[in-house]
Amino acid sequence: MEYQYLLVDPETQPHVAVVRLNRPKELNALNRRVMEELVHAMQVLERDGTTRCIVLTGNERAFAAGADIKEMAGMGTVDMLTIDQFARWDALKRIKIPIIAAVSGFALGGGCELSMLCDMIVASETAQFGQPEIKIGVIPGAGGTQRLTRAIGKARAMELVLTGKFITAQEAFAAGLVTRIAPPELFLQEALKLADEVAQMSPLAVRLAKEAVLQAFEQPLEAGLHFERKNFYMLFASEDQKEGMNAFVEKRPPEWQGR
Ligand code: HXC
Repeated sequence: MEYQYLLVDPETQPHVAVVRLNRPKELNALNRRVMEELVHAMQVLERDGTTRCIVLTGNERAFAAGADIKEMAGMGTVDMLTIDQFARWDALKRIKIPIIAAVSGFALGGGCELSMLCDMIVASETAQFGQPEIKIGVIPGAGGTQRLTRAIGKARAMELVLTGKFITAQEAFAAGLVTRIAPPELFLQEALKLADEVAQMSPLAVRLAKEAVLQAFEQPLEAGLHFERKNFYMLFASEDQKEGMNAFVEKRPPEWQGR
């Protein structure tokens, strides 16, 4: 697939790919084409067998200012149903490799939701997060009411969703939405550093760990614990478990095989 709105570097550093939203004039507004390309790029990276962590970023001014309002303005319910754009969001949710959102500038509406669909968010000090859909007569549609509420709690999520106000990177960090903040010239480096830390772990264990953490949002505690235990047991069938534990005992760095 030829990308019109993405720049993809499959190996910015060993085992780490960078996917950059590249629709700068429209502040990376997520039209259907962008979403289609994003799913394609993520799936290709997932299948290449080399990538262990993906950094998703935008530009300095915007990670993404939301779904494309101009594209949606004339649509009716039937159009929305027929287009089924959430199929693309669902496909992104199924990517098993960890994805780190490196956010500078606006992460609004669908842009904020996209960052929250990622597994971690590293923010530039300039980042602003918000769900301003209420100001254009709708509500968040790609997980904002759910993921934001789980991330920062009901009171703060309710305020953002009902008023459309933005929060700063510092506020997002204090609220637990963001994992690290860095100055504008360093936030991407910081995200790459984090990606490198993840990429140095057993890719198999990372995959099962991501899956297990995400279950915390899907299951009651007992079922989540059960899920975690199964993944834990499963790893004892892997070469990486033997390698990791033997390497510890032998006081040497592990060499992961990913199996
Ligand atoms: C389409 C957008 C856009 C968007 C910005 N642009 N956001 N186009 N969809 N979401 C375009 C503008 O129309 C403008 O193009 C150009 O980008 C620059 O934006 P400006 O408004 O001139 O910039 P500025 O004054 O700095 O304001 C920045 C802003 C504002 C505060 C981010 O653009 C804004 O409020 N954008 C909309 C944010 C929003 O409501 N997002 C939620 C969308 S709904 P032109 O050609 O006019 O110069 C949503 C639902 C998700 O996301 C549901 C799941 C799919």
